[in-house]
Order: sequence, then structure tokens, then C-alpha cells
Amino acid sequence: MFSETVSISRATLPEFDAVVDSYRDIFSTGMVTNGKYLKEFEERMARYLGVAHAVGVSSASTGLLLTFKALGLKGEVIVPSFTFSMTGHALAWNGLRPVFVDIDPETCVIDPEKVEKAITPDTCAILGVHIWGNPCQADRLQEIADRHNIPLLFDAAQGTGSRYLERPVGGFGNAEVLSLSPTKLVVSGEGGIVATNDAELARRVRIGRAYGDDGSYDCLYEGMNARMSELHAVLGLASLEMADKNIAHRLKLFDLYRSRLRKLPGIQFQKITPGGVPNGVYFSIIIDSERFGLTRDQLYEALKAEHVDTRRYYHPPMHRQSVNAHLAPQYEGKLPNTDKIAANSLTLPMFSHMTEEQVKGVCQAIERLHAHREEVRKRMGAAATGGHR
Ligand SMILES: Cc1ncc(COP(=O)(O)O)c(C=O)c1O
Repeated sequence: MFSETVSISRATLPEFDAVVDSYRDIFSTGMVTNGKYLKEFEERMARYLGVAHAVGVSSASTGLLLTFKALGLKGEVIVPSFTFSMTGHALAWNGLRPVFVDIDPETCVIDPEKVEKAITPDTCAILGVHIWGNPCQADRLQEIADRHNIPLLFDAAQGTGSRYLERPVGGFGNAEVLSLSPTKLVVSGEGGIVATNDAELARRVRIGRAYGDDGSYDCLYEGMNARMSELHAVLGLASLEMADKNIAHRLKLFDLYRSRLRKLPGIQFQKITPGGVPNGVYFSIIIDSERFGLTRDQLYEALKAEHVDTRRYYHPPMHRQSVNAHLAPQYEGKLPNTDKIAANSLTLPMFSHMTEEQVKGVCQAIERLHAHREEVRKRMGAAATGGHR
């Protein structure tokens, strides 16, 4: 279909002219970290997210690690298994035990009813994840967290620019941790933001990102170097300027994908949580292989041959990954929606400078593969057995 591969995602960078003066300034002063650009970026992010504090960190991964550490959490954390691996790793790095609960099969985010049922005296927090940019039901989760007097946190790595109940994602729960890595809406190269209205938590995360040292060399706790450099903050500032325009463009591409692909049998889309507005960060389809005529994995392989780069987000889900092999038996048959979505979802190319023509091309590739599904299956069967029958 394409002579050059359509990437799953590409960072959309600002014009070089938009950042060059700031870089020249940094190069002339030598202030490469802990300077004015980070401060300005944090202030602007706080305003954008509607929170009192936005703490810049080196990644969402380190932001999650520091947030759990700074809160002094101990025990079990209720979390979806259907998420990117780092959500769970950050718990493990803090000695916290994940208690995986199922997702809603339509919205693909954590199901509050399952959260309620999973609470035990050892539960120390609830951790929601705004999967593919779709906001969690933060109000219902907050109500549960309040009733049990435990913190509510969000891995909002994919959530920058999404909204729920007319408020930006970033301001829900005790803290939300956003990612600024290249596949996201606001890109600083690598980077993250810990967003919170809790001044003490923000203070502790700031100390944590500087080794746990408040400047006295008498460390408060075991921190790390998780600072965001000035070079990254400059890029983040320019990228934030483009966020709303980029989200609007992505949502237009979402509509285009949906309007074309809904005509095919056996393709479903993630339902947006009622009251939510997504940011368009990832566009995924869920395949009913009986009706579509190809399995998710067959479609994945066939699209690769058409030079369309896709991802099987999130397969395997956390409870089935090797790193969690010791936990797997207890979840057998317990997370049916997670297993089903993980086995059947496919994330299609989406980035802020993707063109309508590219989306149409991806749709046409899928339409053609569906039309020729028998031939595709036959050839794949031949390839799998290594023969030329
Ligand atoms: C849900 C989730 N959590 C955590 C991360 C890690 O973010 P970072 O790469 O900024 O460390 C990602 C990255 O894609 C993610 O999607």
C-alpha cells in the first residue's frame, strides 16, 4: 500500500526557529539544568492542567516511582493489568504489590465496580490509567478512595490534553503523572510531569528528583536524579503551545478512521467514557475475528507487509508478562475483559502531523485485506508451514 512505512507514531516537533533563541541563551549561559526554562514550563503546565503544582521530571517512569515513594505507600495497590508495563514496574520498584482488576470491555479503562470489590485492609492506593487517552471515571474512583480513606493516583502518561467532566486530566485524585515522551501529545524529548494540588507532595517529589536532597545534603529519603534539563523544558514549552491544535487535528483523524472502518464487519472502537473528551493520542481498533475474517495477529502481519506500522497494545497484559509469572496463576480466568481486549486490539498509526491521505491509505489497506481475507489466510498458512502449497 505504501512505499515508505507509515509509522505508528512520530514526534511532532515545533519549528526550529521557535526554540533556537532559547537554546542560544542556554548555550551562552551554560545553565543546562535547574534554570528558568523548567520553572516557566512547570508554571505553564500547571495552568494548562488546572493544578497548583506541576513538577517536571525526567520521565513518567521516574515520576511514578517518586510519587509512590514520596507518599510513603506500603501494601497493595489496585491497578488495571491492561496497561503499559511501566505502570506495574513503578509499583514493584517501591515494594508495592499490584492487585490487578479488570477493565470495562467498552471503554478499556479500570472498572470502578471491580475496584470496590478488590479493596482489602492492605489496600494503600488506587491507581487508574487513562488508556489510549480515554479518561477513567475519576469521580467514581474518588468516591471509593474517599470512602476507604486511601489515595487515588493516575498514571496519566497517555492523558495530556484529555478532559473529564469539563476538567483537564491531570487534576484528578491526589496526583497524576504525565509523560512527555515522543509518542505523546506534548513532547519534551523525554520527560514527565507530576501534577498535584498537594503542596507537601509536590515538595517531596521536587526533593526526590534531586536525590532526596533538599540542598542540605541531609537526605530526606532515597531519591534519584530525575530532573528535567533546560534543553528538554524548552522543547516542552514550544510543544505545549501546539497541543490544542494538534489534539483538534488528531480528533479529526479519529473521525475519519471511524467513519471508514465502521463500514467493515467485526471492527469495534474504544468507547469514550461518558463525560470524557479524549486527546487522540492513540487510535485502536478491536477485532472480532469471526466477523472480520482475520485475527488481530493476522491483520498485524498483513499490515506490516503493506508498510503500515501497528502495535498490539497491550499484549500480553501485565498479569501475563514473564516479569509477573509468579502472579499469573491467581488471575487465571479472573480478568476476562483484559484478556479479550489484549488479544484483539490493534493500535493504528496516529501522530499530530499525520495527513488525511495517510489515514485513508491505512483504511484502504484494511479494507483490501478484508476483501481478500481468504487469500491472506491461505498465504499466511503457507508461510507458517514454510511451504509453497
Ligand atoms: C501508561 C504508561 N505509563 C508509563 C509510561 C512511561 O512513560 P515514560 O516513557 O515517560 O517514562 C508510558 C509510556 O508510554 C505509558 O504509556
